[in-house]
Amino acid sequence: TRVAIVFGGRSPEHGISCVSAGSVLGALDPDEFEVVPVGITRAGQWVLTNGTAEELAIHARQLPEITAASGVDLVLRADPTGNGLLVLEPGEGPRALTDVDVVFPVLHGAYGEDGTIQGMLEMAGIPYVGANVFASAAAMDKEFTKKLCAAEGIPVGPYVVLRSGMTLTEEDKERLGLPVFVKPSRAGSSFGISKVDDWAKLDEAVAVARQIDPKVLVEGAIVGREIECGVLEGEAAGSPEASVLAEVRVVADHDFYDFEAKYIDSEQSCEYDIPAGLPDQVTRQVQEYAVRAFTALDCAGLARVDFFVTPDLRVYLNEINTMPGFTPSSMFPRMWAASGLEYPKLVNRLIRTALR
Ligand code: DAL
Ligand code: MG
Repeated sequence: TRVAIVFGGRSPEHGISCVSAGSVLGALDPDEFEVVPVGITRAGQWVLTNGTAEELAIHARQLPEITAASGVDLVLRADPTGNGLLVLEPGEGPRALTDVDVVFPVLHGAYGEDGTIQGMLEMAGIPYVGANVFASAAAMDKEFTKKLCAAEGIPVGPYVVLRSGMTLTEEDKERLGLPVFVKPSRAGSSFGISKVDDWAKLDEAVAVARQIDPKVLVEGAIVGREIECGVLEGEAAGSPEASVLAEVRVVADHDFYDFEAKYIDSEQSCEYDIPAGLPDQVTRQVQEYAVRAFTALDCAGLARVDFFVTPDLRVYLNEINTMPGFTPSSMFPRMWAASGLEYPKLVNRLIRTALR
């Protein structure tokens, strides 16, 4: 099976995508898969890379980056025969992206996890791992994730959507209370997120979030534990399956589970409980909501659904990630390993599901 691993990309999560891809590449059985490692630079240039685990790891707190120098330029253009999009490899004649059996877009954030590359692959008729166009776009956008999940009876916390040019009203502030979290509606890995505990700091936080997305969400803080659940599309068209749950506890130096805590300092600043120590009934509730959310958005392949659980054990959905991190510190593969599906088997199952 010929599988293109596509990574890097134009979103701020470029470096995380590279680290995720490095882990995925290392987990593919060379006897079963012929791998085509395709990097995308921050400017959007496609590059055929060597895809070595070494160049795709974090070194000295620096995330890896795909540049034009990382490999051979690929040119993306329409296929004159009408078979979709071609990737041309200079020097060796045309080499079509349509020549691969399946694409694993290990891309996080805009132009990767948001339905855009999925649309391109649909047009080209190439099977790919993960959510389709609609689910990718809906899950990328925290506004629509909340609206669709709430419509399915999944509790979500209080929030206000600030479209371009809008600010909070006094009534909004009253209803949300302090602190609030200010987030770009479409972003990942906590990029652009601020915790605000003084209304005087709100405008600055909104401006920071708007650098990533003109649409911003202001969420009332839910005091509770951060609980995550992995979901996989059922084997042989069965219902989606939920993993054991994980709890993330930020123990030092970080105000919340921010970017540095997630990836750079994760060993010092975070403790992870897998499985999370929750009563059975709450565990089942979270798993049921996770599967319901997966179904509500029409997800496919995989998703990581994140929740808050309050001290009185009420469960609130936070967000859905249709291409969750696959780095060594990432929760999705760790939750599945704890559920009995080791990393290489997980990757194998995702590719097999995409080819079904
Ligand atoms: N957006 C990051 C990669 C995650 O959800 O794991
Ligand atoms: Mg996310």
